[in-house]
Amino acid sequence: MKDKILVIGSSGQIGTELVEALRVQFGSDNVIASDLKAPEIPGEGLFEALDVTDREGLLRIVKKHGITQIYLLAALLSATAEKNPLFAWKLNMEGLLNVLELAREKHLAKVYWPSSIAVFGPNTPKDHTAQYTIMEPSTVYGISKQSGERWCEYYYAKYGVDVRSLRYPGLIGWKSAPGGGTTDYAVHIFHEALKSGSYECFLGPETALPMMYMPDAIRATLEVMNADPGRIKIRSSYNLGGISFSPKDLAEEIRKIIPAFKISYKPDSRQQIADTWPRSIDDSASRLDWGWKPLYDLKTMTEDMFINLKKKQ
Ligand code: NAD
Ligand code: SER
Repeated sequence: MKDKILVIGSSGQIGTELVEALRVQFGSDNVIASDLKAPEIPGEGLFEALDVTDREGLLRIVKKHGITQIYLLAALLSATAEKNPLFAWKLNMEGLLNVLELAREKHLAKVYWPSSIAVFGPNTPKDHTAQYTIMEPSTVYGISKQSGERWCEYYYAKYGVDVRSLRYPGLIGWKSAPGGGTTDYAVHIFHEALKSGSYECFLGPETALPMMYMPDAIRATLEVMNADPGRIKIRSSYNLGGISFSPKDLAEEIRKIIPAFKISYKPDSRQQIADTWPRSIDDSASRLDWGWKPLYDLKTMTEDMFINLKKKQ
């Protein structure tokens, strides 16, 4: 059967880059982008307007294009979700259940759904956080991701749905803007460093969090989805490690390129969210099962961000 891919939430931070990468792998005609809103810069392939909570609309698009795989990216992220918890719960859960149901009904062969480091909570050990550990998330986003993981595992165990998932750290890229998360500072800081030479950070200087450069995250997504099903032993979601740094560490790295760069700190409500998350991640299960290995560290990511952002100016 020919692979036909639907990416839901394709106009967001990850979708913008993932669609591009999937089109390289599967061919432009075989990857349909979909979102509530069309992308700011239209890509070369197909786009469908879709609200993932509209089950009938979703089924219509799946049938129309003969979709075999869905990458479900539509969600409210941590900071935005705290502003409207019940809506975040509805979107994050209904979207996932609509897609899992389509897979159970045999309309789909494979599903990708991202989880997050937000599944961990204030009682989780913070350093090299293990795959299996205390998980008591205290944000609505984290609760929805933890519940989503349980649903993914349930649909795999009960109905044989081939669903795969990664617990992304905070993602940093230059191609697209972040969509309302606690880790967004690590993208904004680069833009402000170039624009004004200074940045006021909404997290405190020592707040270390697990992070990853977008090219690594996109490659991880393709690798876990392309892996032989027998190698995917975890059907809730895999820990995924990249880099771990604080705003102070990142500012020091930026100063190696822009020596006059200044950072100040004004923590807001996102600090409380960050304080409940791990500082670093143990991703040994991903490494062992499907061969994960990140390529970028803080230095190479920072250099690459500036090279590309300067080209875009
Ligand atoms: P984003 O906010 O940038 O993009 C989400 C997209 O979903 C937006 O384009 C939005 O218009 C769309 N959308 C919202 N409601 C929709 C609906 N009802 N129907 C269809 N589309 C809808 O988010 P992102 O950063 O690209 O994240 C994608 C996924 O990855 C999310 O599940 C998120 O939780 C997860 N994730 C992201 C990060 C990160 O750092 N970016 C980290 C961990 C996990
Ligand atoms: N980067 C995401 C957020 O901050 C983590 O899932 O919400």
